[in-house]
Amino acid sequence: MEDALTNMARAAQANAYAPYSKYAVGAALEADDGRVFVGANVESASLGLTVCAERVALGAAIATGARRFKRIVVVTESSPPAAPCGACRQMLVEFGCDTVVEAVGPGGSRRWLLSELLPNAFGREDLPR
Ligand code: THU
Repeated sequence: MEDALTNMARAAQANAYAPYSKYAVGAALEADDGRVFVGANVESASLGLTVCAERVALGAAIATGARRFKRIVVVTESSPPAAPCGACRQMLVEFGCDTVVEAVGPGGSRRWLLSELLPNAFGREDLPR
């Protein structure tokens, strides 16, 4: 049986706006205080403006005051399940590298630590003071 976070990501996936790629993605991001924020990919006829499901969820979380995250579940139709793109990894690592990333697809799931998906990440400590 799927856990609550996966169910929420799947429900968000159903709301994806992906008329161009037809590739629907849903994400559910759990904050350290237990709150969950969902996102779906939002495409645009100006194709480069597309926003991924993970960053939609992260934006909602940040706007609500959350800053630390335990886990993100990303649901796609890919098999094996698709991991978040590089841009989303970079945005997530801004808020910590110990978030668990779980990719769910029709054939099962895979999980990693964000630090495994984006080793040696560029971060605030790399910026000159
Ligand atoms: N997409 C996501 O939502 N998350 C990812 O991590 C990778 C790609 C979306 C963007 C676009 O709408 C579609 O998937 C195809 O790239």
